[in-house]
Amino acid sequence: MTGLKTDWAIDATAARRNKFYAASQHKFIPFKDPMVFKKGSMQYLYDAEDRQYIDLLGMNVCISVGHSHPKVVAAAQEQAAELTHCTTMFYHPVPAHLAEELTATLPQGHDWVVHFTNSGAEAVDLAMTIARTYTGHQDLLALRTGYHGPTAAAQSVTGIASWRHPGMPGHVAFVPEPNQYRGIFGENAGAAPYLDEIERTISSATEGRIAGMIVESVQGYGGIIAMPKGYLSGAAERVRAAGGLFIADEVQAGFGRTGDHMWGFEADGVVPDIIVMAKGIGNGFPLGAVVTHKKIAAPMAEKFMFHTYGANPTSCAAGRAVLDVIKTDKVQQNAKTVGGALYQRLLDLKDKHHAIGDVRGKGLMLAIEMVKDRKTKEPDRETTAAVFENCRDSGLILSKSGPTQSVLRMVPPMCLSLEDVEVVAEGLDQAFSALK
Ligand SMILES: Cc1ncc(COP(=O)(O)O)c(C=O)c1O
Repeated sequence: MTGLKTDWAIDATAARRNKFYAASQHKFIPFKDPMVFKKGSMQYLYDAEDRQYIDLLGMNVCISVGHSHPKVVAAAQEQAAELTHCTTMFYHPVPAHLAEELTATLPQGHDWVVHFTNSGAEAVDLAMTIARTYTGHQDLLALRTGYHGPTAAAQSVTGIASWRHPGMPGHVAFVPEPNQYRGIFGENAGAAPYLDEIERTISSATEGRIAGMIVESVQGYGGIIAMPKGYLSGAAERVRAAGGLFIADEVQAGFGRTGDHMWGFEADGVVPDIIVMAKGIGNGFPLGAVVTHKKIAAPMAEKFMFHTYGANPTSCAAGRAVLDVIKTDKVQQNAKTVGGALYQRLLDLKDKHHAIGDVRGKGLMLAIEMVKDRKTKEPDRETTAAVFENCRDSGLILSKSGPTQSVLRMVPPMCLSLEDVEVVAEGLDQAFSALK
């Protein structure tokens, strides 16, 4: 026991946040009224009054295998008690084991190497630097509705305007996202016209030779936009033809979440040059990683690169336990089965509630998009916010996503059960029915 006292009162916590958090940290709040969570257990959260909620947000996709999963907690506790931190200058077996175990989950026959970071944005920054260092080119491509993190470099490849601040580095050109519901080429246009856009953008908005392109196999904050068949492989081909590297951002779609594969890019049979990981890798412990081929990482050794907490043994111990649980608890299979069932229930809701324009996603990466009119597809931000608030009363925590905040995103811990699916469907139904 530390003897440190914590005041759990909601009002007092809100007042402390408002007074002592910078504006940049207290702008991003979901509900009208403050909410305090005290406890988490697998797919459930509990507020200060011990009311249970299903966490369909997975604490922003960080909770991959379950809140406070006993195996992950035990692994981190044991390591923290023994040696909480060991700087990467010294050797420690735990991060080295994790590097080996992580590369074993990737397509085989490649000499993968790992650089651990503390977060996804740091990993994105590093991936950008590796691509520019290896190729000797500056320009990067990214998708208009992509989100890649809060650091200056990660913001520079983030297309969603509401996440971009002044003063970001340049040399980034954006291409249209191959959104099959409301993309610029219309519904179900496939990958081809969007691949042409990549070529056009390379020849018109870059130096012609590029450092690479960063893509999420399923966009998260962009509103659960899965890349259509052929897009990732076609993009990689075009990027490589222009001298660049294909960077897969698997921060949200990785670790089995899409159900069919451990890594989202596997759905298109493409092997990326660089892979960015974070969030689910640590089940809530701060950890990120860049995985690339040995040859591509090699030129980075010409200068020093040091993340103070990168390869931190406590987070890496948690990471090892996460990989173990994904295997032993058959997490990916559960994402497929339970995600498939939830998807069906969301389609039923679409039949019943006209505000739902689209239901999409795969595995436990799902979304419903709200529109004012199904024909015009005008985004309905207000209804999205209202349903989101109503869901709180139904004991469901979701996320408002997409460039117009008109998408309810569902990315729960991957231990969500079939029984939970019924509760979610009922809760959403009530939330829509309660709309005035
Ligand atoms: C796809 C994607 N990439 C990168 C990041 C940045 O990760 P972090 O917030 O750990 O810096 C995020 C964060 O939400 C993300 O969703």
